[in-house]
Amino acid sequence: MTLEELLASAREALDHITTAGTEENLEQARVKYLGRKGLITQALRSLGSLPVEVRPQFGQEANRLKKLLEQHLEAAQERLKKAALAAEAVAVLDVTLPGRQQDVGRLHPITQITREICDIFIRMGFQVVEGPEVETDYYNFEALNIPKDHPARDMQDTFYISDNIVLRTHTSPMQVRVMEQQQPPVRIIAPGKTFRRDSDLTHTPMFHQVEGLLVDKDISFADLKGVLTLFVHEMFGPAVGLRFRPSFFPFTEPSAEVDIQCVICRGSGCRVCSQTGWLEILGSGMVDPEVFRFVNYDPEVYVGFAFGLGIERIAMLKFGIDDLRLFFDNDLRFLKQF
Ligand code: DAH
Repeated sequence: MTLEELLASAREALDHITTAGTEENLEQARVKYLGRKGLITQALRSLGSLPVEVRPQFGQEANRLKKLLEQHLEAAQERLKKAALAAEAVAVLDVTLPGRQQDVGRLHPITQITREICDIFIRMGFQVVEGPEVETDYYNFEALNIPKDHPARDMQDTFYISDNIVLRTHTSPMQVRVMEQQQPPVRIIAPGKTFRRDSDLTHTPMFHQVEGLLVDKDISFADLKGVLTLFVHEMFGPAVGLRFRPSFFPFTEPSAEVDIQCVICRGSGCRVCSQTGWLEILGSGMVDPEVFRFVNYDPEVYVGFAFGLGIERIAMLKFGIDDLRLFFDNDLRFLKQF
């Protein structure tokens, strides 16, 4: 084989290798040129039969071409392997199939209403505070003027952890905690979880309240009425009537419960309001001077009002839900509606 023939073979080999469309074609080219009986391999083998003076140059050239072809072969193998993989992916990927829908999260209806309530009071200048759900007997009862062994304790079905530790039965302990920490004026609301040994259509063992407390000089029951009236009108609309009904709480004097006109029947009487036309939404009153004594506020100087409202109650009225327990069943079919 002459040098020209060798170069011609190499050119031909390069052509086959770079244009091979399948792995099979490429393998054929490899065998033909670089295999044991391949043209380039043969050329190298035949070196001995060449005239001595051309041997070195021919040998060098043949080795260079062999290496070059091997490099191209490897690159072509890589290229074809990638193409085969891509073709396979296309075969199993059906772009006409419907996509997998991403679920969008949302706030629990109770969280939504809690925020709505807080927003209204924030606009009136109240500050939001939070406190412990596991409370001491002192904060939950004692400092709220509910002494041990007093019948007033029977108003609340308490979960006791030990003699002195309870799951808070209301958010009212936050009144005491806040007043211990700061001097008047005080203007706070405290939303959070509360617990009672109760379970039926309108009670769950865990529920939510928002506590409110305002203490300052020259505060009267008129301020309490004004703040709560504005709240109800912001929450349910200015057309909804409300009434203050005398009541009793150990930590307020005088005390009142607030009813709003039934949002279902607009006051004419229905099943939801037990035909009364009214629905109770909160307890309130002027802070009892006894409570001020527990936190060393001078009852001769300061006056305050407080209120505690049930968040589930408000959510039920707002969304038109008649079974309280639905809120905590964690059924997405229910929760997704809000
Ligand atoms: N803590 C009371 C309850 O859960 C509600 C309440 C009544 C809170 C009067 C108050 C209040 O702040 O002044 O039944």
